[in-house]
This record gives sequence, structure tokens and C-alpha cells, in this order.
Amino acid sequence: MKKTATLKVDNREYKLPVVIGTEKEKGIDISKLRAESGYITLDPGYTNTGSCESSITYTDGEKGILRYRGIPIDELAQKSDFIEVADLLIWGSLPTKVMRKRFTDLLTNNALLHESLKHHFEGFPFDSHPMAMLSAMVNALSCYHPVLAMPHSSSEIEKAAAILISKIRTITAFSYKMSRGEPFIYPKSEFSYAENLLHMMFSLPHEPYEVHPEVKRAVDLILILHADHEQNCSTSTVRMVASSGANLFASISAGIAALWGHLHGGANQAAIEMLEDIHSGSIDVKQYIKMAKDKKSSFRLMGFGHRVYKNYDPRAKILKKLSKNVFSVLKHKDPLLDIALELEDIALSDPYFIERKLYPNVDFYSGLIYRAIGVPKNMFPVFFAIGRLPGWIAHWKEATENNRLQLARPRQIYVGHAKQNYVPISKRSTKKS
Ligand code: ACO
Repeated sequence: MKKTATLKVDNREYKLPVVIGTEKEKGIDISKLRAESGYITLDPGYTNTGSCESSITYTDGEKGILRYRGIPIDELAQKSDFIEVADLLIWGSLPTKVMRKRFTDLLTNNALLHESLKHHFEGFPFDSHPMAMLSAMVNALSCYHPVLAMPHSSSEIEKAAAILISKIRTITAFSYKMSRGEPFIYPKSEFSYAENLLHMMFSLPHEPYEVHPEVKRAVDLILILHADHEQNCSTSTVRMVASSGANLFASISAGIAALWGHLHGGANQAAIEMLEDIHSGSIDVKQYIKMAKDKKSSFRLMGFGHRVYKNYDPRAKILKKLSKNVFSVLKHKDPLLDIALELEDIALSDPYFIERKLYPNVDFYSGLIYRAIGVPKNMFPVFFAIGRLPGWIAHWKEATENNRLQLARPRQIYVGHAKQNYVPISKRSTKKS
């Protein structure tokens, strides 16, 4: 017999189906509650609301677990690469050699931008934020690929995924070049994904950029770590936009906009700015901790805390180690790393952070690695977006293939004026002005 939960309200009982996930997560299906009882559930910020059933990524925030399609993130970080992980997320299993080769060829063949799309960059001021350009350019891609933007068959989805994953890297590099007034550098087919990104960003026509193998691996690893994180803000945005029937490219463009915010993908930039403030001497570590704990202040320790993780974010653990490794191979010294380590030590022994289970998240150490490589701060969220793209595609695919896909349209509890009459302008009170 199927388990149910009972809700008692207004002296009536409602039986609500219980849904159990693979890892024994428990949910109560309230989708028919309003129709049967007149009640909705209220959950601002969706902290307790499951928006879908999904088989892509599993997280256990209490235990600090993250798995893509069942495979632990540590194992993928050690043994896999970003393109393989993209295949895994989108198709549900690790690719065979044939699939891998086909997808790699598609990526290579789609690395360039249409010449007329390239000219869109001229319409942006040189100091435009790269996330604004990225979101706009990805949306504009749907004008160049109207059929593949709304893929139906597996082969169309594979091509659309290759277009997005390959071109997002070119758009990123070109927006960086534009901001510096440097000529665009084209991709090389013999280079790996991460290598091409760094080459297109940092090479000059007269001076090729030598990509250190450890740096290449570090960028690839960062992309793997960001590739999916179940129903986070930007992924939920992608699914929500998809639910209206919007095409894949438009949905991803909206996801990029959602990622931009400083509480989500913009936190890596905000975390570095916080470390810079401390380094400049304008404020010290202890003052920052004090401000973060002060309930009268809206300040938060950036790169700390997570909606899901109430334990050390498993991605932050890998990044902390990686940052030390990159610093060592590049013989790079950065006082911000010492400040970050000090901040982490103080926060993790402070009762405020211990009681609230606030640990460093993925954004705390990633910015230090980007800095060591020479990536400017405003491009940090762009790297996050490149990494998150396979996850967004996988969720768009899962959401649109699901027969139960419904237009995502939450309800509200209205707390505004009761009915009132229209007042002509001549009779309105002047008090307000
Ligand atoms: N610094 C100080 N206090 C914090 C922090 C922080 N970074 N994060 C949470 N808290 C406190 C809250 O003030 C709250 O305290 P209270 O119980 O006394 O009111 C308590 O911890 C719980 O916080 P919530 O806001 O309920 O936690 P929520 O799950 O909504 O927030 C979030 C998660 C938004 C990530 C939050 O921790 C935060 O703002 N962190 C800083 C920004 C950041 O690093 N974002 C990146 C997240 S990871 C990602 O998107 C890839």
C-alpha cells in the first residue's frame, strides 16, 4: 500500500501521497491540495519545496555528498574530464568511445561564431559586464540556429548541446578580448576544451599563450565541479522558462542571468572583493566576522554558507587543495590565499558559524585560482556559467521530455488592499506628494 501523509485543517482530513526518492529522501505530494481543500502551501525562497523529480544529480547537504548520475564528485574529479561529464549529465551514462569522438568532433566543428554574430560584440560598450554579453549572445544564438534551439530528437539535442558548449567558450573569450581592445583569437582543433578557452583568452597574434598542463587540468576540474547542482537558482530558472515552452537557448540565457546575482554565481567575485578589502587594510578579518554576525547588518561572509550544504561543501574541499597546487606549480604567491585560510579558521571555530553550520562553499576558493591564472574578477561568474552549462542542458532535456511537464506558475497569498474604488486624479489626496 502506498504511504500517505494526513493533513488536518478545518476539521477535515486530507490524505497526501508520500514520494520516496532513490536515497530515501521523503516528500509529500501536495499538487492536489488546493483543489481539494482550498489551501496552498507557502514557502518563500522554496526552501522546503520540491519542484520536480529528477534523476540527474544527488546531494546530501548534511553529509556533504554530491553525485552526478550516481557517481561521486571526488571520483569524477580524479578520473574524468569536463566533456565526459557533460555527456554523463546530458545522456545519463558515461559515453562510449564512439559517442565521445562524435561529440568532440561536433564541439570542434561548432567552435566558431557566425561572422555576423561576431559583429554583435561591437554593439556593446567595451566595459560591459561579460555576464550581460553572455546572456544576450546565447539568446541571440537561437536566431542563428532556429531549428536546433528547439531540439526534439536525440541527434538534434546532441547538436544543440555541442553548439552551446562549444560556442559559450568562444563568446567568453571574445568578450574578454573586446574588453581589452585586443583582436579575437580563433580556436585550434588540436586543443582540449579548457586549453582552447585559455588560448582564445590569453594568446595574442604575435605571442601564443603557453598553457601549463596543471593550469589546463585545474580549469577542467573547476568546470567539472560546477557542472550541476540539482535545483539551484539558475537551474530552476532554466526549468521554469522551459516550462512555458521556451527554446533551449532562451532558457539557458535566462539561467545565465539568474547565475549573475551575488548570492549565486556572482559570489566568487564578491568573495575575492571581500579578501581584497581585508588586504587593502580598510577592514580586518575580525571586523568582517563581526559584521557577518551582526543581525542589524545585511553583510554576509561571501563564499560561506549554502542552502543545501550544512557541512563542508565537497567542491570547496577539492578547490582548496587545487588552489594550493596551482599556486605551487605557477610559483604564484597571493596574500589573499593566506587571508582566506585565516578567515576560514576563525569562522569555523566561531559558535555563530558552528551553530548555523556555515562552511566555505564552492565560491570561496575558486576565485583565488582564477586570479592565479589571470582571469579578471568580472569573468569569474562566466567560468561558472561555462561549467554549469551541461547541467542546464540536462535539466532542460529532462524537464521537456517529462510527460508531466506543467507550466511553472506558483501561487501567492495576497496581502494587499481589499477591493477599493478608482479615485479620479482631481480628488486624490495631496498628502502623499
Ligand atoms: N554569513 C553570515 N551569516 C550567514 C551566512 C553568511 N555567509 N549565510 C547564512 N548566514 C546566516 C543567516 O543570517 C541566518 O542566520 P539566522 O538564523 O540568525 O537568521 C542563517 O545563517 C541561515 O541562513 P539562511 O539565509 O536561512 O540560509 P540560506 O539557505 O537561505 O542561504 C546563502 C544560503 C544565500 C548561500 C547564504 O548562505 C549566503 O548568503 N551566503 C553568502 C553568499 C554566497 O556565498 N553565495 C554562494 C552560494 S553557493 C552557489 O550559489 C554556487
